[in-house]
Amino acid sequence: MFYQVYVRSFRDSNGDGVGDIRGIIESLDYLQTLGVDALWLSPCFTSPQVDHGYDVADYREIDLLFGTVEDMDALISHAHTRNIRVTLDFVPNHTSHQHRWFQAAVAAGRGSAERERYLFRDGRGEQGELPPNNWMSVFGGPSWTRVSEPEGSPQSPAQWYYHLFAAEQPDLNWRNPEVVTEFEDVIRFWLDRGVDGFRIDVSDALIKDADFPDTDGGWPIIPKDPDGEVHDIYRRFRRVFDEYIGDRMAVIETGADDATVAGFIRPDEMHLAFNFRFVKAGFVAEQLRDAIDSSLAANARVGAPTTWVTDNHDTPRSVGRYSQGTQLHGSYVPATTSQIDFDEARGQQRARAMALLLLALPGAVYVYNGQELGLPNVDDLPESALQDPVWEKSGHTNRGRDNCRIPMPWHAEGPCFGFSSAPHTWLPMPDYWGRYSVASQTDATDSMLQLYRQALKLRRAHAPLGRGQLTWIESPADVLHIRLTHDGQSVDVLVNTGKADVPLPSGTVLLASGDVSDGVLPEDAAVWLEGQM
Ligand code: NOJ
Repeated sequence: MFYQVYVRSFRDSNGDGVGDIRGIIESLDYLQTLGVDALWLSPCFTSPQVDHGYDVADYREIDLLFGTVEDMDALISHAHTRNIRVTLDFVPNHTSHQHRWFQAAVAAGRGSAERERYLFRDGRGEQGELPPNNWMSVFGGPSWTRVSEPEGSPQSPAQWYYHLFAAEQPDLNWRNPEVVTEFEDVIRFWLDRGVDGFRIDVSDALIKDADFPDTDGGWPIIPKDPDGEVHDIYRRFRRVFDEYIGDRMAVIETGADDATVAGFIRPDEMHLAFNFRFVKAGFVAEQLRDAIDSSLAANARVGAPTTWVTDNHDTPRSVGRYSQGTQLHGSYVPATTSQIDFDEARGQQRARAMALLLLALPGAVYVYNGQELGLPNVDDLPESALQDPVWEKSGHTNRGRDNCRIPMPWHAEGPCFGFSSAPHTWLPMPDYWGRYSVASQTDATDSMLQLYRQALKLRRAHAPLGRGQLTWIESPADVLHIRLTHDGQSVDVLVNTGKADVPLPSGTVLLASGDVSDGVLPEDAAVWLEGQM
């Protein structure tokens, strides 16, 4: 079970209103009691923080906002003492515009080796004044920005550079061997320090169509060929991981279809991939069943385990999504869920049920900080408080992802609910936030936090949970009934996404997300039953 620490929102140790590495070290007791096996830390490398660390200026340094390399060393060693692994976020598609390579590329001018590390092109139009093609940036607006060429040099017309995300995130040229070698070295740098692995940002996008043709709608062309150049990069990375003893791993982030995703986790490429199909499913049995079947089948073909995930720092929190039963659609940065339609009680019940599904399915699980507290989205932040670059870059048409990034409440009361001693946090915490705090939930037996703690404990103790062979048991269309078997033991998992009560089959109740004392599973609830085989 991987726990995603969105570092700036987890815990602030130095009172600047932003979470940091020392804050994580101080919270290791909490993480251990919860039952996490590994951490994934969102990027904490030196960065101007235009995209909250997904714009790295130095891949071998920790940003002072979060601490130092020594703090990271300390976290790794304290976590390892507790048998908790540490994985970092690896951002290879683009650097920050403040990275020394990009600065050198701008300064060196057209035709230089420095420009070859990025995707510089001449513009169209008589003076090169139009972007090289019509591709749009994921955050909104064109994906090309024109540089000012160095003064006095015969560089005209000025060139443009490509950025899949913000202009401050120039894309690297992964067809340049120097880029591959540099990042192999960055991987080694952190593996040498004892890091257990990485999450790889926008993994599938490193290679773009080299001709940069215009497209209908302006979406970039990212080749998906399973034998394509991008897979050679991951084979190179895999050889670096394999140089190390012990388990070292990487998880792929790509929103592509299941079969394409599975192409990245073949035996000589990376180890895991996020299951976005599962993230997108609504609280609807059919959608969940399809997501489970299709990801298990795709991964079985390449012999890789599956991951199960419902929440992360890019997606509205599942409590809000499930309250509406809606499915997320393709867009990378979805518009926020609406506060008006939010039914908190229903959202919490369904999120509890989903926790039992998530933690039972065979494979690795990713839990996003605050998910275990049932944090809802905060959709009514004042516009002046919004921090996500998506808000500005989309011309104020998309409020972005701040709604799921509000700092964690640790205490029921007090300034910043124990997250920080600062008067203000980087995103404001609502005055009702204490209700969701770790302190309020620790002693409440029916809290979301206690459900996660119990479920994770049972997952360790009962071999079928998280590991078993999965079979479907016949059930009404709006009910999921899964049997997990392992070494002669079995656990049945039922999730009721319909309206009618479902009679419980035989077996001993290990855990239920709702009240099953009448021998029925009510709507919006799930149960684990230990069976006799
Ligand atoms: C995916 C990350 O999860 C997201 O937060 C970021 O904005 C983009 N990649 C760009 O790096």
